Amino acid sequence: MPEFSAVPELSAADSWEDISPVAELAYGGYGHTAEYHASAASIFEPKRSLVARIGGRACGTCAVYSLEMTLPGGPAAVAGLGYVTVAPDHRRRGVMSAMVLRVLHTLHEAGAEPVAALNTTEAGIYGRFGFGLASQAAKVRIHRHARDLRETAGGERTVRIGAPEEHAAALAAVYAQCVGERPGMLRRDAVWAARAVLDLPDHRGGSGRLLCMVVEEEGEPSGYALYRLTAAWEDSVPRYEVSVRELFARDPASGTALWRALLDVDLAGSVVADRPVDDPVLALLADPRSAAPVLRDQLHVRIVDVDRALEQRGYAAETDLVLDVTDPLCPWNERRFRLRTGPEGGECRPTAAAADLELTSRDLGALYLGGTSLVQLARAGLVRELRPGAVRAAATAFRHDPAPFCPIVF
Ligand SMILES: CC(C)(COP(=O)(O)OP(=O)(O)OC[C@H]1O[C@@H](n2cnc3c(N)ncnc32)[C@H](O)[C@@H]1OP(=O)(O)O)[C@@H](O)C(=O)NCCC(=O)NCCS
Repeated sequence: MPEFSAVPELSAADSWEDISPVAELAYGGYGHTAEYHASAASIFEPKRSLVARIGGRACGTCAVYSLEMTLPGGPAAVAGLGYVTVAPDHRRRGVMSAMVLRVLHTLHEAGAEPVAALNTTEAGIYGRFGFGLASQAAKVRIHRHARDLRETAGGERTVRIGAPEEHAAALAAVYAQCVGERPGMLRRDAVWAARAVLDLPDHRGGSGRLLCMVVEEEGEPSGYALYRLTAAWEDSVPRYEVSVRELFARDPASGTALWRALLDVDLAGSVVADRPVDDPVLALLADPRSAAPVLRDQLHVRIVDVDRALEQRGYAAETDLVLDVTDPLCPWNERRFRLRTGPEGGECRPTAAAADLELTSRDLGALYLGGTSLVQLARAGLVRELRPGAVRAAATAFRHDPAPFCPIVF
């Protein structure tokens, strides 16, 4: 950690207006519209969020959101961090470090959420604070010439296209049916649902407005896609890009119908989307090479309290393991824990017994949503096996199918 050249004073924010001037400067000085600020303010939780001041002047911000996230085994409370920003003239003096550490220590002392999560502008920032990479997205680009999909059983679906606001009820109904399907997904109330369809003209970057495609089965919504088009021409031939923001379907036939409709949009040359790494479309493509998925980091997870965190998720197998955890920034985690898992969940208690595995809380964070292979971490030398067979047993228990995914940036 850097030495503070001036120790920042940290206090709870009073309102979004405490945060926005510093955040705006830190993100490059773009002025935002009243609509942007109203939307950011609608999810902002002043009492939980921090402002850092030096000499009375605001120079750092850190928003904290109360999220309900799907974990392996069911939904649980997770603290979301966002708008971690430091004024350009106060960087590299430890302001961010002070804010992030304060948030982690406050969560622990208050017995609040035992886990924190964030999406980040730059993937290299948060490992030092014990955040592990817990979910990834696969960026796919499917070209029109490679749009053939294998047949999916389940019958025909009707597709309707319109403005997202016309279909608000359908979107909410489908999302509610899909939110429990993958770890990393966040429950959305009306305020967060409104953010999902936010379509600020000054953020479109030359693309068209947000559109919505809804599929129905016997008159009931069974899937939707939010997308927009970007015009492009190549030698007078239209090669528009269809860029998908969200796609959810409650059954395979509805998902396939959405992809077929997206790949068949008039003037389109390709469809691009950030998808779960095990998205069904990757299995459906007749030409699987064409999608050329590229992995990108998504959720970074921080275990605040090892015992409470490991008890609030489910496990895929029965195990009885002693974990020796290293965590210099949250020293209450620096000890051995006995984790017993089974169909009912996990029980995690401090123990003096000999350890089976040695790992950091950062790597526990990476494992938390079930999307990271413990075998991979062990082969990378990040998890140390002290009892033969412990890596394999823990890997099976921690893994979750389907893979985690979070379509929301908070
Ligand atoms: C990223 C940001 C918040 C860092 O704030 P800061 O107060 O300068 O950070 P600190 O001084 O506390 O730095 C702590 C450590 O993180 C490192 N670090 C800071 N920014 C980093 C970056 N972008 N990439 C990698 N490491 C970074 C520092 O070098 C320092 O390392 P050290 O502990 O080895 O000395 C600030 O640069 C910023 O506002 N950037 C623009 C907004 C942004 O991208 N925010 C992140 C949103 S999730």
